[in-house]
Amino acid sequence: MTTSAPARWPLVRTFGDGAIDALPGIVHRLGHRRILLVCGERSFEASGAARILPRFHDDAEVVRWSGFAPNTDVADLRRGLEIAQDLGPEAVLGIGGGSALDMAKLITAYQDIPPETVTDEIRAGRTVSTRRCGLLLTPTTSGSGSEATHFAVVYVDEVKHSVGGPALRADHVVIDPSLTLSGSPYQRATSGIDAVAQAIESLWATGATPWSRRFAWGALHRLLPVIEIFVHHPGRSSARAMAIGAHLAGRAIDISKTTAPHALSYGITKSYGPSHGHAVALTLGAFVAEHARATPERLRSGVDPGEHRRNMADILEILGARNADEAHHRVDDLVARLGLRVGLAANGITTSQQRAALAAEVNVERLGNNPIHLDVSELERILERCA
Ligand SMILES: [Fe+2]
Repeated sequence: MTTSAPARWPLVRTFGDGAIDALPGIVHRLGHRRILLVCGERSFEASGAARILPRFHDDAEVVRWSGFAPNTDVADLRRGLEIAQDLGPEAVLGIGGGSALDMAKLITAYQDIPPETVTDEIRAGRTVSTRRCGLLLTPTTSGSGSEATHFAVVYVDEVKHSVGGPALRADHVVIDPSLTLSGSPYQRATSGIDAVAQAIESLWATGATPWSRRFAWGALHRLLPVIEIFVHHPGRSSARAMAIGAHLAGRAIDISKTTAPHALSYGITKSYGPSHGHAVALTLGAFVAEHARATPERLRSGVDPGEHRRNMADILEILGARNADEAHHRVDDLVARLGLRVGLAANGITTSQQRAALAAEVNVERLGNNPIHLDVSELERILERCA
């Protein structure tokens, strides 16, 4: 029987160091006995999450699948769907970084679709409003906030698609900060700056609401004071703040969606290799400055100039910047202190032709979520400032 995904808000969460140990009991109480576990190849053991495997009740059948690469691809999704269709899971359990959680969401969404037709379904861009099995998500990184959103990214022939709908919202989320300590400093940096960018972009997005702004500010106030400590000297207290901050940033973009730095990041990752958060960070400072400088005539209709000005003043203040240029430097300084290579040139994007190609690749419709009008030539101009 197909049922509508739960529409309750807020979603059910279990939080705290060691919260992962409660997961087998939660799955059991929800009545799920056949479980597809979608998790990272190495991170599942390294994070400590694998210790839950012996704790599933005797009557539970748990099939683990880790056969997918970062940046969720439809070829991997098809393999996951074949496994899901053999098993017929009552619940999909996603444990890992953003790619593992997105993959768990996509398998749940497309469980009843022949794997060979999933590409057409993704391209059709239909809202996924029903699903047949449960969905439980546990992040092992503090970054994507995927556990809190109703959408997932998937690449088809190297083109990024976003699948969305209420069925992609989890029934239950378990957030255990102690799982986020085992990654490399680069992983913590790129994930952490992704969460920071998501919170900042959410604040200026045209899709923002009072609730999304509340979540985004809650995120920034937790993330910014501890992100450097978490990257270089991770401990219990910074991991806790980052886990809450990243989750709140996810809840913020669940409402508002992301904006230009994210739209550009997918092409940067695909063609030049920096991982997702690092790619977002390469243009974030320039967009903070661009939005801070925006005069009322540059704003889209419907954007309140006073509200935009106040928002940007607050963003500059939390970055410790007095003006737009200083804000750009502050962001780039933070990115550098996290150990990430700053600037497009340092990441292989050195020519105006390369920048033009990145700008031309962006789906201009997605830029509609930016408070200012942006076209391809303006994107090229902004990318030049990130060189
Ligand atoms: Fe992101």
